[in-house]
Amino acid sequence: MMQHAEIINRVDSFINGLLNEKMDVYRASAHLISAGGKRLRPLLAVRFYESLGGRAEDIIEAAAAAELIHSFTLVHDDIMDNDDYRRGVPTVHKVYGTAKAILAGDLLFAEGYRALSMSQVLSSHPDRFLRSSRVLTENVVLICEGQDMDITPPKEFNEDFYYGLIRRKTSALFIASALIGVYASGKNEYENAARKYGDGLGIAFQIVDDLLGIVGDTKETGKPVGSDIREGKRTLPISIAINMADKELREMILGVYGKPSSDKVMEEIVERIKSMDLEEHVLNVARGYAQSAIDAIEKIPESDSKRSLEELVELAIRRKK
Ligand code: IPE
Ligand code: IPE
Ligand code: MG
Ligand code: MG
Repeated sequence: MMQHAEIINRVDSFINGLLNEKMDVYRASAHLISAGGKRLRPLLAVRFYESLGGRAEDIIEAAAAAELIHSFTLVHDDIMDNDDYRRGVPTVHKVYGTAKAILAGDLLFAEGYRALSMSQVLSSHPDRFLRSSRVLTENVVLICEGQDMDITPPKEFNEDFYYGLIRRKTSALFIASALIGVYASGKNEYENAARKYGDGLGIAFQIVDDLLGIVGDTKETGKPVGSDIREGKRTLPISIAINMADKELREMILGVYGKPSSDKVMEEIVERIKSMDLEEHVLNVARGYAQSAIDAIEKIPESDSKRSLEELVELAIRRKK
């Protein structure tokens, strides 16, 4: 099994090679990638591939495709969410302006597909390439649907809507990444396992992301405090927080929900939310989905790579960033 750091190094050098051009749009595209990130999606592709008998070095380009597509969604997401910080640095549109950030996202999207087509293992097996490219496309379409739901939510929080939304905006790319690993290996009988794994992991991951969006430490997450409340997002943790709050806190939250507010007021609200046991409550919900991800890969033969897939699920719950 290739070490995490080695996979990330190889994925990053491949991506840097693709984006190593002079024009502004390339620098804007590389901006977030060079600022950090967990590289979870490439890791999923590699670990599925390895756990089904492949060698990590043969799937680096396809794994990088997942990260390029992820970066494209982040650059555009920060414009949509009007967020100033990500990965501890100013967002692409803050540095380069919205027009160039849109373009940078477009470029990353195209480079993602280029990366997929550069994969040796996929291009030497046309059926594997076709399946991978199809699943990536289907799931990018789902992300667009999810982002549409995110920016045009119903007036009241609705649990079915929330899960439909996060399955699309987050699980979809986890599913595509896992499936690229499966298809590249040629062991298509594990397709359903990868789908269920990506679905459960994605839901758990996004619930925790939404929790960190309220109670996370900006220094760790690299994202602004309380931005989901300020943006009026209909997330499960916000809904639970509103339900758990006493009358005074509920009124304070509703007073800033979806409205511009000072950082001081938001900090006060966040401090009060932290003193309720919101975190445990939300993490319990997320743990159920995490367990379903672990159960989904039960039939994959035991190996270090499979262990790593299980650890990635645990990390999604434990993470502070
Ligand atoms: C952020 O994803 C967007 C979501 C789907 C929540 P990550 O939390 O994987 O972001 P990075 O890549 O590590 O910055
Ligand atoms: C990001 O969703 C999901 C995608 C980019 C598809 P969010 O808007 O909830 O995530 P953060 O908090 O900005 O990373
Ligand atoms: Mg966002
Ligand atoms: Mg968003």
